[in-house]
Amino acid sequence: MSSALVRRMDSRPAQSQAAETAVAGPGMYPAVRMRRNRKSQWSRRLVAENVLSIDDLIWPIFLVDGGERRVPVAHMPGVDRVNIDEAVAEAEKAAALGIPAIAPFPYVDKPLRDPTGSEAVRANNLMCRAIRAIKTAVPNLGIMADVALDPYTSHGHDGVLDDAGRVLNEDTIAILCGQALALADAGVDCVAPSDMMDGRVGALRAALDKAGYLDVQILSYAAKYASGFYGPFRDAIGTNATLIGDKRTYQMDPANTDEALREVALDIAEGADMVMVKPGMPYLDIVRRVKDAFHVPTFAYQVSGEYAMLKAAALNGWLDGDRVMMESLLGFKRAGCDAILTYFAPEAAKLLKANA
Ligand code: PBG
Repeated sequence: MSSALVRRMDSRPAQSQAAETAVAGPGMYPAVRMRRNRKSQWSRRLVAENVLSIDDLIWPIFLVDGGERRVPVAHMPGVDRVNIDEAVAEAEKAAALGIPAIAPFPYVDKPLRDPTGSEAVRANNLMCRAIRAIKTAVPNLGIMADVALDPYTSHGHDGVLDDAGRVLNEDTIAILCGQALALADAGVDCVAPSDMMDGRVGALRAALDKAGYLDVQILSYAAKYASGFYGPFRDAIGTNATLIGDKRTYQMDPANTDEALREVALDIAEGADMVMVKPGMPYLDIVRRVKDAFHVPTFAYQVSGEYAMLKAAALNGWLDGDRVMMESLLGFKRAGCDAILTYFAPEAAKLLKANA
């Protein structure tokens, strides 16, 4: 019996008839059934609000010097440190998959590390040689390079220390500018300060501009938290063993969100072209707040520990690896990310290509 008919036959007072309309009327169940749009794949595709595309992916890779082409990273199954020849091959693979950019990170040989990270500013260091080789072989692939001293310092901190072990802001920035110029000389497209010193974005912009690098972009790790999720990365670049103390005097307290907005506001004012939130999955609330507040290109880094968690569970058969990979990446899009740094980039790109 239709509900109109039921209403016509209804002899109850008008008030209770109105109450029934409120429950059963237009705009509500059963007239509205949310499941209708989900009934088949074509319909789900049409109503999808967010899409992950290969255009959203940035692939971090680890570099190592020497003859061996690939050395596995212990706690990141499927991720290896690669030498320069192999890095060029990886860059070609990225380009063939349509990945817009890669983000190389160096494992610096231990004898080259010192308290001030002096290797970071050398024109012929591993990063600069790799950037030159990749740019020659695959000129149209974007290269983003971290600006921070931790791969280069004997103590594993992102900056230089005073006698009491405090990270010195201004002394560090002076070296970071030298590092950025070495990277720019090598042909890097974008520098990504990940050190969390105050004022570094403005200083880098001024140094790059002064040297004529007006087009080198700055992707600021604007809201970077002092996180336990960086563990496998620190193994990969060999800083876990050497890191003295922790990074809580410069990276952000995981308890804070308003502070992230201040960090982002400052970095934009200082000249950041894009801003990043890091880690990713536990901080998607920050991504959303940043995107809503500033409307600038907003990236997130699905960091090593997030990759390790998902991979470990998948390898144990506890989760469907492909499925949670794609679901986690879509979560970044839903939160407002324009792009995502992720070790899953080639795997995800392959899946996206296959399903296109
Ligand atoms: C270094 C840097 C870190 C990461 C990117 N750049 C580690 C840290 O701050 O200790 C972490 C990336 C990851 O965990 O995947 N400044």
